Amino acid sequence: MLSSIEHDLSEIFGKAFEALELPNKLGIVQRSNRPDLGDYQCNGAMAAAKLGAGNPFVTAEKVVAAIGDNELIEKMDVVRPGFINVFVKAAAISGKLTQLAADSHFGAAEELADHKVMIDFGGPNVAKSMHVGHLRTAIIGDSLQRIFRFKGYEVVSDAHLGDWGTQMGMLIEGLKKRQPDLPYFDPSVTDNFPTESPVTIQDLEVIYPEESGLCKSDPEAAEKARAATLELQNGRPGYRALWKHFVNVSVATLKRDYGELGVSFDLWKGESDADPFITPLLEELVDKAISIQDQGALIVPFRDDEGENIMPPLILRKSDGAVMYGTTDLATLYERVRDDKAQTVLYVVDGRQQQHFKQVFAAADLLGFDATTQYEHSYFGTVNGKDGKPFKTRTGGVMKLHDLIQMAKEEARKKIAASNIDSDISDEEKEDIAHKVAISTLKFADLRNFRIKDYVFDLEKFSEFEGKTGPYLLMQVARIKSILRKASTVSALAGELLATSQNEKALSFRLLDFPAVIDRTVEKRAPHYLCEHLYSLAQEYSSFYQKQHIMKEEDKEKQASLLRLSQVCMQQLEMGLNLLGIDTLERM
Ligand code: ARG
Repeated sequence: MLSSIEHDLSEIFGKAFEALELPNKLGIVQRSNRPDLGDYQCNGAMAAAKLGAGNPFVTAEKVVAAIGDNELIEKMDVVRPGFINVFVKAAAISGKLTQLAADSHFGAAEELADHKVMIDFGGPNVAKSMHVGHLRTAIIGDSLQRIFRFKGYEVVSDAHLGDWGTQMGMLIEGLKKRQPDLPYFDPSVTDNFPTESPVTIQDLEVIYPEESGLCKSDPEAAEKARAATLELQNGRPGYRALWKHFVNVSVATLKRDYGELGVSFDLWKGESDADPFITPLLEELVDKAISIQDQGALIVPFRDDEGENIMPPLILRKSDGAVMYGTTDLATLYERVRDDKAQTVLYVVDGRQQQHFKQVFAAADLLGFDATTQYEHSYFGTVNGKDGKPFKTRTGGVMKLHDLIQMAKEEARKKIAASNIDSDISDEEKEDIAHKVAISTLKFADLRNFRIKDYVFDLEKFSEFEGKTGPYLLMQVARIKSILRKASTVSALAGELLATSQNEKALSFRLLDFPAVIDRTVEKRAPHYLCEHLYSLAQEYSSFYQKQHIMKEEDKEKQASLLRLSQVCMQQLEMGLNLLGIDTLERM
């Protein structure tokens, strides 16, 4: 990772404090919020006074004297009571920026390949189409997988399909009613089942809500669905074969929707893949006396030293023998810890599942998984409508993800038609632009908020070409690209970075923040830090561009430097957007 100027200065100041027999850490240097007074400042002399070092002004002067001439520092001013303001040499800034720009990861990556991070996100359910509730996990999870990978971690993402719960029994029973003669339902048939699915995704989308509604009102139907689920889990061949068809037809549609969003997974495993780990897991829990029998069910109680329950128990196996959502999650974690040897497992799942993950993680701690692995629920808030309630369609139904994307595209088409887009753009390219603008709209609107916060879905606002939006950033990138294209036609080539004027310095400092921004994003599992950085960078570029008349610049060396700075800025914006899962455009 490329060291920051702050870091380099802090080292220099730290040594100076040490020379005065004061703690090294007093030398911490930060960016100044008064660029007219200095680029950086060190406030250590005041802290030194608290440690008994006497007059801070005198200490500050001694520190400055101890540093003397330094190749990084242009000038140091001591200001009462004992601030040290630092101006950095232009050559130092341009040197750092040149290093940053030459690095394929803008100085942010580290050697972390032996640290495996598994990210569990997506979590779509078989036979149900994805809805707005699946939007955040896809967008945030995908951005985190990109950022962690970029930082240097080994990342394995898993869609963790919901494919093992009672809804599977409902589908089996629902289909049995409709087509009782299928071989899957004949217990005497145990193999050679048809390879072709007896149902399409459309069929499943009809059967599922019908059966689920029926099970709510009819206890007998619910009982049948439960029994069928149990038989499936216990391995009845016909049910397993049928279930495989349900999963396959669902996955095909899911891949289409994720494809539209530009989201991908390394693994398309599901709750069902935890099945082989359930038996050894339950044995270990029983052996270690972590689980107990309670009214015929197998549970993990969570008690304090006085034996009081601190939270509801985790139910592993119901009295009828069926395993639960928590069981498959704990067994999946068992695999990720024991077999996959993940150091970190992140669950990018709705905040409304906090209790569930607390229970699963508490059971995992009792098993000692925390000795090798850190697991976290990196949760997110709800997408609300303008009424403050979870977002619905106009008619009050659940908004399908596919429809939402189409809506965003429609809005993008309108905005593009209204803007003065180049007339020579083909319809095909316009469609590609609309698609990318729409995806940037949805993703940026989601990622710009700290993930644990709820937000109000306001497509019109999110689609604006001005303000903190995806389309605004795409526009800025396209604008810089167009400047660079023009420059190359007049053969004004990108040259050395000089960082002489105040604007160039401000933009350079912003660009140099990138590695620290990536670190903070990784540390907090929160892409909004990166969003904030990219937005500030785009704005900084705008004011830079207004003040520096690049194309009219007479000094050719300076012009080349300004172009190079523009290019680096465009590249960082593009790379940052890519880390958010947003594709950029050449023009728009
Ligand atoms: N399928 C679940 C749902 O729709 C989400 C799964 C989240 N991941 C997990 N490991 N529990 O609510």
